[in-house]
Amino acid sequence: MKRIVLFGYRGTGKTAIGTVLAQKLGVPFLDTDALVEQQAGRTIPEIFRDSGEAGFRAREREAVSGLPDRDAIIATGGGVVMDPANMEHLRKESVCVLLSADPNVIGHRLAHAPRPALTSLSPTDEITAMLKHRRPAYAAAADFCIDTGRTTAGEAAEKILTLL
Ligand code: S3P
Repeated sequence: MKRIVLFGYRGTGKTAIGTVLAQKLGVPFLDTDALVEQQAGRTIPEIFRDSGEAGFRAREREAVSGLPDRDAIIATGGGVVMDPANMEHLRKESVCVLLSADPNVIGHRLAHAPRPALTSLSPTDEITAMLKHRRPAYAAAADFCIDTGRTTAGEAAEKILTLL
């Protein structure tokens, strides 16, 4: 097996699906957001508050460059694809899976689990604008794409296993 890296916008299920996938395959689960929080000793909202998005991105780049090469499921933050240095590390020896969902589904999920704002737009407009802005980078990152809008984490994990 190689590393499986999950990409996609906030609320597409990277952490939930990655956790199930790692259990099924019996390999470690790593989440770049969790690594950033551990290394900083602060939560992501606290990092955004204290150091802005630039401070968060610097920490995210550090976490990505320190990821091990061994078998693992790796969930990434939604913006990781916008940095070519991150992509060079993440695509090496990895199967890259893009998770997607309808913007309405994403909006509904994020309403229950808010993240730091990336723009001054309303939450709905931010999702639309960021998906448009990031679409080419997400497409370039992906070996496979899975729509997670109508599936449970377990179903999505099974689907990914059939594609490997
Ligand atoms: C971000 C997504 C978040 C986290 C940070 C920035 C983004 O991760 O990395 O808030 O730019 O889309 P999730 O995609 O896991 O929510």
